Amino acid sequence: MLVSAKEMLTKAKQGKYAVGQFNINNLEWTKAILLTAQECNSPVILGVSEGAGKYMCGYKTVVGMVNGMIEELGITVPVALHLDHGSYDGCMKCIEAGFSSIMFDGSHYPIDENVAKTSELVKICAEKGMSLEAEVGSIGGEEDGVVGAGECADPDECKSIADLGVTMLAAGIGNIHGKYPENWKGLSFETLAAVQEKTGEMPLVLHGGTGIPEEMIKKAISLGVAKINVNTECQLSFAAATRAYIEAGKDLSGKGFDPRKLLAPGTEAIKATVKEKMELFGSVNKA
Ligand code: 13P
Repeated sequence: MLVSAKEMLTKAKQGKYAVGQFNINNLEWTKAILLTAQECNSPVILGVSEGAGKYMCGYKTVVGMVNGMIEELGITVPVALHLDHGSYDGCMKCIEAGFSSIMFDGSHYPIDENVAKTSELVKICAEKGMSLEAEVGSIGGEEDGVVGAGECADPDECKSIADLGVTMLAAGIGNIHGKYPENWKGLSFETLAAVQEKTGEMPLVLHGGTGIPEEMIKKAISLGVAKINVNTECQLSFAAATRAYIEAGKDLSGKGFDPRKLLAPGTEAIKATVKEKMELFGSVNKA
């Protein structure tokens, strides 16, 4: 059964570790992440962007697939199914489809409008027992056509959104979706510390988990980050392993063209990446 992310994140914040949100794209991704979470005895959040939801034939298809897998694979660790960077409409659709968690990304609205829309969703999520992530200060880079400039959040604005009763808060701290450019200045720990000071118990979310050096991840967790999102890194691992398989000519030998064989190395590569992240984030054996 899917669960809200509230309990796992409250425990993570108290225990000074982070739960990984791994974005899914298809059956192989979902299976790889769920099996790794179970193997690591770790709670996990499956992230679905609006683009990936569309690709997987809609949110109802995603809910059906994930619920089916949890049952058929005998997954017993806590799993939240979470809309990533949702629009207001996308949030409403996921609530209806049976997601257990949503992110409303109102970071591009003026703060008053972000507050108004987030407040409405706080009410609905409370009634449904769902968790809600809000965002202040956009995350840089591009993800599924959503482009952010990568600003640092205003800690006072973070407090006004946190006080609305959201479950977790994503604050821009110089993080970027996708690979980091050579001249990236690193995370702004000054901003993170100021946000943490204003928002207290609120689990903070670090987007753009791909390519952030280990030491920065650890420091971010020590400053209140309890959820870290990873997407691109699984895509890169999957692509590299699939490339190696094809370049070795394995699809041309025997039944190597069978999709169950062709996609196997990529699926294993996703598992390895997810395991590495769960170890780094400290969520192993915290289910
Ligand atoms: P990366 O693709 O950089 O790992 O970012 C993932 C993310 O933040 C999803 O919201």
